[in-house]
Amino acid sequence: MTDRQPQLDIDLYTREIFRDPYPQLERIRAAGPAVWNAKAGGWMLTGDAHIRKTLSNFEKFTLDGAPPQRLFGPEAFIVIDDKPRHDALRNVWAPAFLRGSVEKLRPLIGRIVDDMLAPVEERLRAGETVDAAKDFCRDIPAYVIASMLGLSDSARPDIVRWSDAMGAAVISPPSADGRMTPAWIAGEDAKRELGEFLIEQMAFRRKQPGDDLISLMVHSEPAKSMSDDAIMKNCRQLLFAGNETTAKWLGHILVVLDRHPDARRALIEDRALLQDANEEVMRFEPVVHRGHRVVRGGAADIGGVTIPEGDLVIMFMGAGNRDPARYAEPARFDIRRPPAGNLGFGFGLHSCLGITLARVEAVIAISKWLDRVPGYRVAGEVGYDGLGLRGPSPLPVAL
Ligand code: HEM
Repeated sequence: MTDRQPQLDIDLYTREIFRDPYPQLERIRAAGPAVWNAKAGGWMLTGDAHIRKTLSNFEKFTLDGAPPQRLFGPEAFIVIDDKPRHDALRNVWAPAFLRGSVEKLRPLIGRIVDDMLAPVEERLRAGETVDAAKDFCRDIPAYVIASMLGLSDSARPDIVRWSDAMGAAVISPPSADGRMTPAWIAGEDAKRELGEFLIEQMAFRRKQPGDDLISLMVHSEPAKSMSDDAIMKNCRQLLFAGNETTAKWLGHILVVLDRHPDARRALIEDRALLQDANEEVMRFEPVVHRGHRVVRGGAADIGGVTIPEGDLVIMFMGAGNRDPARYAEPARFDIRRPPAGNLGFGFGLHSCLGITLARVEAVIAISKWLDRVPGYRVAGEVGYDGLGLRGPSPLPVAL
C-alpha cells in the first residue's frame, strides 16, 4: 500500500487499452487531476491545462530520468532541459523546418507518395486487400527524413527496419521493476546499428559537407564541443522522431475517415478542409498518447495533489485532447471544429520541431489517396499495439 492518493492501478499494456484507451482515460479523469498508478510507477494526468502547465515548466518537470532519456540518450536535445544547450542544438536544424523550407520539399514528398500509391492502387483495383499501414503510410515519412539527412535510397530498408524496432521498444519498455522485454532488447540492437551507420555518415560529411541535415549538425557551432557519439544521438533522434509518428498519423486519418463518411465526402469535395481535418484527427486520435516527466526541486502540486520529488508523471495526451473543460463534445469527431492547438505535437520547450513538415506530408499523402482511391473501406480488424506511439497496424483496406 502506498500513501500516494488518489490511486488507480490500471494496466497500461493490455490489448483492450491499446485498441480503445478512452474508457480507461475517462476513469482516470474521474479519479482526480493526478492519479497514482503503482503498476506504471507514475502519476497519471488527464487534464489539458495540467498537461500544458507540466510541459511548460521544464525547471520543475524534467526529462532527466524519464523513459525517453533511455530511448534517445541524454545528449539528444529532445530530452535536454538545459534551455541554452537545448536551444543551441535545436536551432541548428530549426530553419530547415520552417514553412518556407518545408514548402520546397513538396515535389519530393509528392513523388514519394506517388511511388507508394501507384502499386497500392493497382492492387486495390485488382480486388486485393492491402495493409495500408505497411504498404502506404509506413515508408513515406521515413523516405522524406532520410532524404533530408542526405542518406542514399539504398539505406531506406535498413532505416525503416531500425526505426520499427525502436518504435516497438517504445511500446514494450522495461517493466517498472527494470525487467527487459524482447522488443526493448531488439530496439537496443537497432539503436546500436543505426548509431554505427550514422557515425560513418558523419565521418563522410566531415570531409565532404553537403546541404543535408547531418552535414549541418556536424559542422555546427555546438558540435565543436561534442563527442561523435553525442552528435550521432542528435541525428538518430531526428531520424526516429521524424518517421514513426507521421506514419501512424496517416494511418489514423484513413481509419477515422472510414468511420466518418460525411467527413470523407466533404474532404473529397473540398481539399481546403484537409489540413484542419487532419488536425482534428490528431486531437481525436493522437499518436503520442503518453508523455513523461520527472518531478525535481521539491514536491510539485498538480490540482491540489502533492507529487513527491523524483516521481514520474505520465501525461495522457489523448485525455487532454478530449478534456471537456477545453472542448465542447470532446468525443465527437468534427472536421469543422476550430483548431485549438491540441497536445498531439507536444507543448513548451520540447514541442515538435517537425510539426510543419508532418502537416505538409499528411496533406499531400491524404489528398493523393483521396484522388486515387476515394472509395476505400477498412476491410477487416484494425490492430493497435501500444500507447506510447499508437497507430493502426495492420490496417486492411479494400475498394
Ligand atoms: C505526426 C507526426 C508527429 C507527431 C505526433 C510528433 C509528436 C511530437 C511530440 C509529442 C513531441 C514532444 C515530446 C515531449 O515533449 O516529450 C515531439 C518533439 C519532437 N519532434 Fe515530433 N512529432 C511528429 C513529427 C515529427 C517530424 C516529422 C519530425 C522531424 C522530422 C519531428 C521531430 C521532433 C523533434 C526533433 C522533437 C524534439 C523537439 C525539442 O526537444 O525541442 N517530429 N514530437
